Amino acid sequence: MTAGGGTMTPLDPDLFPATHRWAYLNHAGICPLPLPSVEALHRTAMEVATDGEFSYAAHKENNERARAAGARLMGVPADDVALIKNTTEGLGFVANGLAWAPGDRVVIPDGEFPSTLYPFLALADRGVIVDRVRPAGPSGALPVEAFAEVIAQGPPPKLVVTSWVQFGRGWRTDLAGLGRLCRDTGALLCADVIQGLGAIPARLEEWGVDFAMADGHKWLLGPEGSGFFYVRRSRSPLLRPLEPGWNSVRHREDWDNQDLVLDDTARRYEGGMPNMTGNAALRASAEMLLDAGVAAVWRHVDALCDQICAELTAVGGSVLSDRTPDARSGIVSVAFADLDPGHLAERLRRDGVACSARNGALRISPHGYNTTGDIDRLVRTVRNAAA
Ligand SMILES: Cc1ncc(COP(=O)(O)O)c(C=O)c1O
Repeated sequence: MTAGGGTMTPLDPDLFPATHRWAYLNHAGICPLPLPSVEALHRTAMEVATDGEFSYAAHKENNERARAAGARLMGVPADDVALIKNTTEGLGFVANGLAWAPGDRVVIPDGEFPSTLYPFLALADRGVIVDRVRPAGPSGALPVEAFAEVIAQGPPPKLVVTSWVQFGRGWRTDLAGLGRLCRDTGALLCADVIQGLGAIPARLEEWGVDFAMADGHKWLLGPEGSGFFYVRRSRSPLLRPLEPGWNSVRHREDWDNQDLVLDDTARRYEGGMPNMTGNAALRASAEMLLDAGVAAVWRHVDALCDQICAELTAVGGSVLSDRTPDARSGIVSVAFADLDPGHLAERLRRDGVACSARNGALRISPHGYNTTGDIDRLVRTVRNAAA
């Protein structure tokens, strides 16, 4: 799309005010908002300020556009997507919405982000057993065979839960392969997709994922506290809506009808008033990604990650992430023998380079508007710190 720092980028850096201050390489943390999303937030808020309830119809329409854009990014039907608060809420909906019996098994990798684990650990008081898959080696590898091994160690699990992309080292799980394994063993598959959705093309329905969730504030380049929740239509009868309200029923807005007739679509998981301003920004970000093309964004992110790996290796770094084609993601984890990752991330921050320290290494996560010039700034600071 545009030239910045000598690179053609699929997303326009001029749409990101953060580029004036930062080489922003921390999309696995919290993304900076692009201008179209800021404008959508402002516009929506002003419409409520000016017209109150009379802005509601437009905002409902906007919600539907957000849902449609999220569904396209996920590769699922729009009617199977609910607009929710955040990833943790979606995981909680799955953990608490399924019917459990004592002795039911859930299989989850070790080293997951706490929100991917806690809702299922919290089912211990209902007799649910959580069995862990051990990632192999420094890259945190989680091949499908590792899941198969744990699954085979007991009765067929009711549910397998995993992040699509692990938040620490960036290992990308083969969801299509895991989906086949789950189908063969009769397990449901729940994928936390926040560390990939928006930057890597997804086909969750085709891959056999039953439940998936992601908030806006990472690779979707959206706001904090607005996200997408996918429930495969055929699984919806298994998942009890935990917060049924006026917005969950087929006859929403028919206030005199008190019958609890749940909507046939994933809207049944939306209990009350949606986050209209947040969803407007989420829509703007999601549509921006779709306009650029997620495949193009991914090619760009992947090339920047290759550059990061090559250049940080040249200044003494060890790349811990698995960079084989099917396992790699937009997260690169690099360790330096004599540099504490926390101190290094802080030094980078002072030099205007945003990344973070995770799992004992520097975690770098570029997006579709970053340039090779941003990577040069990263490498320059690391070289100076190492000198
Ligand atoms: C894999 C993963 N899941 C969930 C979360 C938290 O998501 P949310 O704040 O949207 O609940 C994070 C945040 O870093 C994450 O990396």
